[in-house]
Amino acid sequence: MMNKSGQRIDFHSHILHRMDDGSLTPEMSLDMLREQMRQGVDHIVLTPHFYASSDYPEHFLTKRRQRLEELTANLTPGMPVLIPGAEVQYFDGITAMEELPQMRIGRSRCLLIEMPFLPWTGRMLDDILELTHRGQYRIILAHIERYLSYGNEPALRKLADSGVLMQANSASFQGIFRSRKMLRLLDDGLIHLLGSDCHNTAARPPNLETACSFIEKKRGADVLQNIMNRGLHLLNETTE
Ligand SMILES: [Fe+2]
Repeated sequence: MMNKSGQRIDFHSHILHRMDDGSLTPEMSLDMLREQMRQGVDHIVLTPHFYASSDYPEHFLTKRRQRLEELTANLTPGMPVLIPGAEVQYFDGITAMEELPQMRIGRSRCLLIEMPFLPWTGRMLDDILELTHRGQYRIILAHIERYLSYGNEPALRKLADSGVLMQANSASFQGIFRSRKMLRLLDDGLIHLLGSDCHNTAARPPNLETACSFIEKKRGADVLQNIMNRGLHLLNETTE
């Protein structure tokens, strides 16, 4: 993947059909891709939910491969580059999961983790730090804005100081108070990547444009492009 200016990458999406609560059909996935193109998105990380409590890694990975093949067969020229990954829900025991490396995004070291929606315990933080220190992962926490109301901001800062990357959802840049809070996090260096977390074409459609235009307007095109370039750089940082 070339890293030329003006590229846009969506780091969090549920576009693969019949994987989770995201897209229902290949047709809906294609509609979502067309909408992404309209918003100038040229790279999309596919991050279906993986829940260790209700799925087996092998089953998930096989299904993901099949769904991606089905979708790829229907792509038309000029559609975004699709990179398979997962949104792995944190669980007690995640550090011992054998198949965890296979949940990384594309051929990179990036691993997107969804943290619990409650105040994080020391054990949770230790697990994330342990994975980070292994060197085989670039840990990215999904939609960080959703953990703040549980008093987790100090923990986020601690993790970011240790090299954990933070992904924010585009929708959080809507609304006066929420967007102000997000700008503060951005200014504090706590937002490294952006995602739409799109699930469908209706209630949770592709919306990366929301965050892109807001950040561009408030902080300038360079700040936005730095975020996009970071995403592309991370994907190019392969494990070999
Ligand atoms: Fe998600």
